[in-house]
Amino acid sequence: MSDVVTMDDLTNKEIMSILDDAERLVPVAKGDIHLPLLEGKVLANMFFENSTRTRMSFESAMKRLGGSVLNFTSVGTSVAKGETLFDTMQMVDGYADVAVIRHPRQGAAQYSADAIGIPILNAGDGAGNHPTQTMLDLFTIREAHGTLEGLNVALVGDLRYGRTVHSLSHALVRFGATLTLVSPEGLKMPVEIVSDLREHGAEVVETSDLAGVVPEADVIYMTRIQKERFPDEDEYAKVAGIYMLDSSDMSGAKDGMIVMHPLPRVSELHPSLDNTENARYFQQAFNGVPTRMALLCRCLGVKVPKKVK
Ligand code: CP
Repeated sequence: MSDVVTMDDLTNKEIMSILDDAERLVPVAKGDIHLPLLEGKVLANMFFENSTRTRMSFESAMKRLGGSVLNFTSVGTSVAKGETLFDTMQMVDGYADVAVIRHPRQGAAQYSADAIGIPILNAGDGAGNHPTQTMLDLFTIREAHGTLEGLNVALVGDLRYGRTVHSLSHALVRFGATLTLVSPEGLKMPVEIVSDLREHGAEVVETSDLAGVVPEADVIYMTRIQKERFPDEDEYAKVAGIYMLDSSDMSGAKDGMIVMHPLPRVSELHPSLDNTENARYFQQAFNGVPTRMALLCRCLGVKVPKKVK
């Protein structure tokens, strides 16, 4: 089975091997080396929800490796006529070799993986998981710190609805991270996830105080408050803009501390931060290309050469 629906679909050894492959593929991702490893293969990009980075980086990854892409959105397709997810995915099974799916409903990626034979990569299912984002996040952390082991990571913002932090927290504790979960009361990490992290031996601290965590963190992972998942606009208004970082906040940080964000940002990261050496969010977004190249190769059973030239 080569689906990636949650981080549980990858062992730590597989994670490291994919990150190693991704590292070697960086010059291909930049267009400096031509390496058509996926020539003749077709990716179906199935986006039932908005995306800029995930969709485009998968498309860039597939095309840089010589493959082609079928782009699907729920607007302008037969979803508007009432076609079910099951039926839509049956079509994809016949049209492509691998499918990426983003869907507003939690569990939709697993449902799709169970319904069809080609490999499925979960590109975000509601407030559930976003494992390919986690892979590029791990790549970015390892790139900056040289290791994934034993880091002090602060996850900040909407930990209730933010699927990126659900997947990332699971992965980080498998590498011995200490996690500080920073959120307002109403947006805390779901209790079942926190319990699970602790059962895996993680040291987890919960707080609402962002300023207090800056001096100890190796990584500060900011997230957007997920307005679209709030049942009530007034509830969103109470927490919108609650956490912000700017360049002046970096003076109290450890050497080498990095600020990450899955993007898009709203007001969490002031533009004054963009040119500091702490800011990694644009590099993080680029890292989606080599990381997704490595994931596509794995799903399609294509080996990345040990020397890429
Ligand atoms: N990080 C992320 O998932 O971005 P998009 O929603 O633009 O794909």
